[in-house]
Amino acid sequence: MNLIRRPRRNRQSAVIRDMVQETRLSVTDFILPVFIMEGQNVRSEVSSMPGIYRYSLDLLLNEIGDCVDLGVKTFDLFPNIAESKKDKYATESYNPDGLYIQTIRAIKDRFPDVMIMTDVAMDPYSSDGHDGIVENGKILNDPTLEVLGKMALAQAQAGANIVGPSDMMDGRVGYLRQVLDEGGFHDVAIMSYAAKYASAFYGPFRDALDSAPKFGDKKTYQMNPANSREALIEAQLDYDEGADFLMVKPALAYLDIIKLLNDNFHLPIAAYNVSGEYAMIKAAAQNGWLDGERAMMESLMAIKRAGANVILTYFAKEAARVLNKY
Ligand code: PBG
Repeated sequence: MNLIRRPRRNRQSAVIRDMVQETRLSVTDFILPVFIMEGQNVRSEVSSMPGIYRYSLDLLLNEIGDCVDLGVKTFDLFPNIAESKKDKYATESYNPDGLYIQTIRAIKDRFPDVMIMTDVAMDPYSSDGHDGIVENGKILNDPTLEVLGKMALAQAQAGANIVGPSDMMDGRVGYLRQVLDEGGFHDVAIMSYAAKYASAFYGPFRDALDSAPKFGDKKTYQMNPANSREALIEAQLDYDEGADFLMVKPALAYLDIIKLLNDNFHLPIAAYNVSGEYAMIKAAAQNGWLDGERAMMESLMAIKRAGANVILTYFAKEAARVLNKY
């Protein structure tokens, strides 16, 4: 055949394939979400997330040290709270002597250069298992802000670098920006969960934290998976309220949303490769149904190709090992 264009010419060797590669993953892209628990010298594996553990503080510090050696330097903390410490108003969330705030302090003390991202939402501490204050079966938007403000301030005081309001309710970013600024924390960044969908892929995470809602679902605050234009409204609001990063969550089933925000906003775009996405690949790999390492790297690459500059992923440590091999 007399073809002028033969795209295979640029695929004929590893050297040329590398040369024309459009997207490259780097360990500096990753944020590792970590689960923390009370106790000493204990870790417990999340049954639906093989290889992912809840750590007591001492073991967490070792784990963070290992990750830092691999080049992963930002961690997003999520607490497993005993049922006895949960209440309607999530008061444990801003207890300066509580698990979460003490953990931030200890990490920053031991690893001053590590960046700590925090979760600002009531669910791990709420006896209702919802992200907001519940009254007569309704999740309240505005009254929940006061709790979130106290939480973010306590986290900032303990040394948090980035706060992540994750409840997908209205007015979060603007309110937290104001609270942080009034507290003198101008340098604490906000990563807004701009487009967080009401997703089945959060199942294993709720196992990890025992944080599943005690009634109903989260559809009055998290977005409908059918919508993409609504993501632009959410992102615009968070942008206007002062967000430093815009996040899309989950990642793999929402690559179009990542691209949409990347095309329309000039802030860094983050994508949260969530617990269920991790579990699917691990389960298939354990069964020998696919090559887990390749599926992991291909997924992360796809998330980056779609337009995410930052990837929150439970694969961060494992992927860092793979990247460090080259
Ligand atoms: C809730 C929150 C969730 C996740 C992070 N923050 C789950 C939910 O909305 O119930 C999920 C993360 C994951 O699945 O990995 N504030």
